[in-house]
Amino acid sequence: MGKMSGKVALITGGASGLGAEDARLLAAEGAKVVITDMQEELGEKVAAEIPGSIYLFHDVRDEAGWASVVAETISRFGRLDTLVNNAGLVRFGTVEDLSYDDFRLQIDVMVNGTFLGCKAAIPHMSKDGSGSIINMASVGGIKGISVIPAYSAAKAGIIGMTRSIAVHCREQGYRIRVNSIAPGGIVTPMTAQALAELPQDAAGLDQVHNHGMGQPIDIANMVLYLACEDGRHLTGTNIVIDNGETMG
Ligand SMILES: NC(=O)c1ccc[n+]([C@@H]2O[C@H](COP(=O)([O-])OP(=O)(O)OC[C@H]3O[C@@H](n4cnc5c(N)ncnc54)[C@H](O)[C@@H]3O)[C@@H](O)[C@H]2O)c1
Repeated sequence: MGKMSGKVALITGGASGLGAEDARLLAAEGAKVVITDMQEELGEKVAAEIPGSIYLFHDVRDEAGWASVVAETISRFGRLDTLVNNAGLVRFGTVEDLSYDDFRLQIDVMVNGTFLGCKAAIPHMSKDGSGSIINMASVGGIKGISVIPAYSAAKAGIIGMTRSIAVHCREQGYRIRVNSIAPGGIVTPMTAQALAELPQDAAGLDQVHNHGMGQPIDIANMVLYLACEDGRHLTGTNIVIDNGETMG
């Protein structure tokens, strides 16, 4: 019996990086996993490698698409216990360089996408105490990094929204826990993009460049903790996993 035995998890942005690792770990612990992403080929490939998982195409900005993936999850697996709002992207540029389109894109995917996910899932989530929503924030939402103003706004927004939704669920007596995770630099295609596009001395990115990054499993372990019974007393919190990047 795994820690997620009998549970069903939906993971956005699950075709790559952290989301794919979350999918692998939750499935290894017994969950049925629905992976959604806009990268179809990669999503199908990741799902094919994980027994008990399926891939569905979905852009998290699409509200009607949210209704479909939640309905499909329940029709295929009978319930929904865990939602990981993980999909994200980054466009680099200071307040003076970043275009308004790129600003809006990041807010749209990460803030609006997370809102739509919570809104679509909560009415259908198990309210027997196994319901858990995990929103992917970032240390970028906590510390100042000059080249990511929109990403920082989105991630700080996710931390605040997580608390609001957690309080709502408690007020309603739903027994759905809602938490966020704020990773520091983790080795994924997103940080490979940062290393390729940014100068070595870019302010605030010293951990990515110099202090060693974490691995996706370092975040997946916390996703599992929050999703399973181990995390039953945690809600409304933001868990920073950054090897001390924001401590001083
Ligand atoms: N890697 C890090 O160091 C790090 C640190 C802090 C936070 N995060 C956050 O963790 C999450 C996962 O990042 P990652 O590092 O695995 O990056 P990644 O680029 O490997 O994966 C992100 C996935 O999200 C998908 N995605 C993007 N826009 C989407 C949309 N509109 N609809 C559906 N899917 C979409 C992409 O296709 C991709 O598969 C992101 O929210 C990211 O901001 C990552």
